[in-house]
Amino acid sequence: MANVKLAVVYYSSTGANYKLAQWAEDQGKKAGAEVKLVRIPELAPMEAIEQNPKWKEHFMATKDSVPEATINDLDWADAVIFSVPTRFGNVPGQVKQFMDQAGGLWFQGKLVNKVVSAMTSAQNVHGGQEATLLNLYTTMFHWGAIIAAPGYTDDAVFATGGNPYGTSVSVDGEGNLKEDVEAGVRHQVNRTVDVAQKFID
Ligand SMILES: Cc1cc2nc3c(=O)[nH]c(=O)nc-3n(C[C@H](O)[C@H](O)[C@H](O)COP(=O)(O)O)c2cc1C
Repeated sequence: MANVKLAVVYYSSTGANYKLAQWAEDQGKKAGAEVKLVRIPELAPMEAIEQNPKWKEHFMATKDSVPEATINDLDWADAVIFSVPTRFGNVPGQVKQFMDQAGGLWFQGKLVNKVVSAMTSAQNVHGGQEATLLNLYTTMFHWGAIIAAPGYTDDAVFATGGNPYGTSVSVDGEGNLKEDVEAGVRHQVNRTVDVAQKFID
């Protein structure tokens, strides 16, 4: 039985989605997957980043220590967990730019049957988290990917906000998580690896 190759692909300005991604990385390893944690490249100019101390702090802390995501990571992976912030109910431009580079892989049929699942954060409890996940998943439908959403497959989903589309959390203005969603993340990762295992066996 081959190990699932899991890419945890995230974008984060102030650290919330990095935290979710780190839990996902840890749980992927515990679930027996070969895991890569990669960050979607920052596109904002340094002048914009510097206007928000938390953004600057997070950017400086991760720019050299976490590898940048490339489209090759999607090719490599059997399963992909995405974690991205909500921006007006949608993904950040950085994430869209990254996705738009996947045209070549899509054309070659290399994204078919990738097992994918996504997480998000927003400043408000009802700030558009579900819309962000659905918008992200729209791209995955075009890939022919298998979306391993959590649904209500475990008590952890109910205990962490009950979002069946993917773990979501609200954050304060500095990117600190306002709810404890760790168990939900860990369940979502287990489920994603489990589904992917069925495809590679
Ligand atoms: C341009 C922009 C748009 C945003 N739109 C929303 C929104 O629609 N709803 C919401 O609750 N929070 C919104 N936020 C807050 C972000 O979702 C929040 O900063 C993010 O989830 C923090 O994640 P991170 O620490 O990983 O960057 C927005 C933030 C920015 C900068």
